[in-house]
Amino acid sequence: MQLGQYPAPSHTIAHFSDPHLLAGGKTLYGLVDTVARLGAALDLLEASTIRPDAIVFTGDLTDLGEDEAYERLDELVGPAAGRMGAQLVWVMGNHDERAPYARVLFGDDGAGGAGATAPQDRVYDIRGLRIIVLDTSVPGYHHGALESGQLEWLAAKLASPAPHGTLLAMHHPPMPMPLDPLFAVLELADQPALAEVIAGSDVRGILGGHLHYSSHSTFAGVPVSVASATCYTMALASPRLLAGVDAAQAMDIVSVYEDRIVHTTMPITDAELLSGLPPAALARAAALRPEERRELLSRKDSLSRAAEYLLAGEAADGAAGALPTGEG
Ligand SMILES: [Fe+2]
Ligand SMILES: [Fe+2]
Repeated sequence: MQLGQYPAPSHTIAHFSDPHLLAGGKTLYGLVDTVARLGAALDLLEASTIRPDAIVFTGDLTDLGEDEAYERLDELVGPAAGRMGAQLVWVMGNHDERAPYARVLFGDDGAGGAGATAPQDRVYDIRGLRIIVLDTSVPGYHHGALESGQLEWLAAKLASPAPHGTLLAMHHPPMPMPLDPLFAVLELADQPALAEVIAGSDVRGILGGHLHYSSHSTFAGVPVSVASATCYTMALASPRLLAGVDAAQAMDIVSVYEDRIVHTTMPITDAELLSGLPPAALARAAALRPEERRELLSRKDSLSRAAEYLLAGEAADGAAGALPTGEG
């Protein structure tokens, strides 16, 4: 449904990061139930009107790489993605372990040749939009790196463009981290080598994680977008370094258009709604002529009339939970 100058996006992707799931009911810092936090994020998305084509998790899926944590992840996310009709895209993070990640999430025990500890790079096709997953993890360490073989593999994949272009999904984002200089020790090593492979390719965006806060940059001319974490976030305004805080968890929605990409950060919150209209209001607005819509919704003195009109179909629609609309 197009009410403005832009058509609907060709693809919508939910970008989650850093759930850090733990096995056996353990909590992070004795406080954060990471399974419950991820469940709340999925519930919020599923209850919304957003229907993603894919859900991308940019790494640190588990905190300790436990088999049971990957099993919980699979049990929790698989059915939710199925109900939303979304394809799942997993990415390795520094807190993950390749062998259980490959075995539990992909049924790959390494017997096929590459071995259970080989980098977990994969390619996904989301109706013509290619998502290339790069495994930036370094076994035994928290910083990131790409082996020369991975860069050669990536260059070979990028040699043929995809119909809607390519998104790279990787845990360690190739960008500076100016607000927490200590974090730079854990950054992706040798970033110029990756820039060389991406330059001139059909890569349109890079999705990252690892930072536990939302951040945006460019790399080799390509936009980079880091989604915050679902478990806990970094307290960047704190006087301490590498300080975590149990607040401000979020997910991103990536809306892919023909000529651009929009990244929107959605806070994961159960706060009380202050205003809002039922989804059926959109159809009622769409039924109006453009001039009528502008008069009803844009005129400063017509907001209450607009709410009245848009809510009028509510009883027939059976929509619940309508609240007066706030001023945009
Ligand atoms: Fe993390
Ligand atoms: Fe990380």
